[in-house]
Amino acid sequence: MTRRQRRSGQRRSGQRRVVARLAIQQWAETLGITKPTRTPPMTADDLPHMRAALALARRGLGTTWPNPSVGCVIVRDGRVVGRGFTQPGGRPHAEPVALAMAGDQAKGATAYVTLEPCCHWGRSPPCTDALIAAGVARVVVATADPDDRVNGQGLDRLEAAGIAVESGLLEAEAREILIGFSTRVALGRPMVTLKLASTLDGRIATHSGESQWITGTPARRLGHAMRGRHDAVMVGVGTVLADNPDLTCRIPGFRPTPNVRVIADSHLRTPLTSRLMATAAQVPTWFLMREGTNLAREDAFIGIGAKLLKIPGGSAGVNIEAAMRALGEAGLTRVLVEGGGQLAAALLRADLVDRIAWFHAPSVMGGDGWPAVQAFGVERLQAMPRFRRDCETVVGDDMLSEYTRQRSCSPVS
Ligand SMILES: NC(=O)c1ccc[n+]([C@@H]2O[C@H](COP(=O)([O-])OP(=O)(O)OC[C@H]3O[C@@H](n4cnc5c(N)ncnc54)[C@H](OP(=O)(O)O)[C@@H]3O)[C@@H](O)[C@H]2O)c1
Repeated sequence: MTRRQRRSGQRRSGQRRVVARLAIQQWAETLGITKPTRTPPMTADDLPHMRAALALARRGLGTTWPNPSVGCVIVRDGRVVGRGFTQPGGRPHAEPVALAMAGDQAKGATAYVTLEPCCHWGRSPPCTDALIAAGVARVVVATADPDDRVNGQGLDRLEAAGIAVESGLLEAEAREILIGFSTRVALGRPMVTLKLASTLDGRIATHSGESQWITGTPARRLGHAMRGRHDAVMVGVGTVLADNPDLTCRIPGFRPTPNVRVIADSHLRTPLTSRLMATAAQVPTWFLMREGTNLAREDAFIGIGAKLLKIPGGSAGVNIEAAMRALGEAGLTRVLVEGGGQLAAALLRADLVDRIAWFHAPSVMGGDGWPAVQAFGVERLQAMPRFRRDCETVVGDDMLSEYTRQRSCSPVS
């Protein structure tokens, strides 16, 4: 009996494990993962170390694109000898960082990794080879890598080198961290979180255009933390013209590199004197524009340091599906959309919103205020995009409600 057949036999034991596996399998099929995952070990000793690896992985969120954020903990004789997570820009990967810290103590140790180690040459050498060369005896992985270049082959390579391999420990938590990367692999675009801050009746600005501030300081601070965990913050040019925003994460020390700022601005109407343009040389500032705009203006934008992504035109502005694909191609995995109402409507109409983070202030503006989401032509209740409520949090005087889009077989549901 082969090693894989033995593992397959173990998987059949226990109703609970079968149910968990079905969910994992459904997700794996969505992402095109064909190889079976290995049986979770679930020993009391393994759990805290994998939890620590997951906490490390969360620290890289928003900064490792185009790569996923991964955490790694190396343990020998019950003692942590190495820790690492993916560094800004996606390199070095978590495993070499942890191995460098462990040094000789990696020999005979167990490595806990939140994502299957890579086994291909990309911009870095394969992490499987680094683990093998370091003499690691056992590797415990939280989830498989949906990338076709890995997709089970990393685990095979480790097993072939005589390393004991187990996979599936705290898989749901690992998938949540991986969600931006797996969305980009499966759908070719980043995961989109729509953040809205409105009155109780869903208004984001008065009829005269005043919008600062509807929510209180704690909610706005939390909004900055959300920016910190996304690769990019995106708005439409209407918001730039109305609010002249910075779109940066202004929590000192929260992230090592600034988030990308993305503006849907088909005709480059963003003023050259705006805050965005004043800082475009230091903070990545990308414009989604239509082909054939005023060439002199294009030159001025590029000269200031902005990046221009040329997108076909849509019914309004740029074609939103093509725009999000372009952001995926450029490497973004997690995009926080902060409005305004027209951009929100375009994304919802195209079913491109995966998560909603909605801050409600305890106030009412009335029907002449600007709606958080402009009209997008829903005629029947059945046609409304539906979301699952994940949690509600009191934030100062405001309430944050978080939702996930319900789709069948989605990497983000
Ligand atoms: N309270 C809050 O949380 C909050 C947040 C953001 C904004 N706001 C408020 O919202 C108001 C601005 O709302 P808005 O709806 O005018 O701004 P918006 O959605 O930010 O920008 C709309 C503009 O984006 C461009 N765009 C490019 N491609 C698009 C596409 N596919 N779909 C939709 N738009 C596209 C269009 O201009 P082109 O055709 O020129 O490209 C469009 O006019 C302001 O008063 C602002 O203060 C409030």
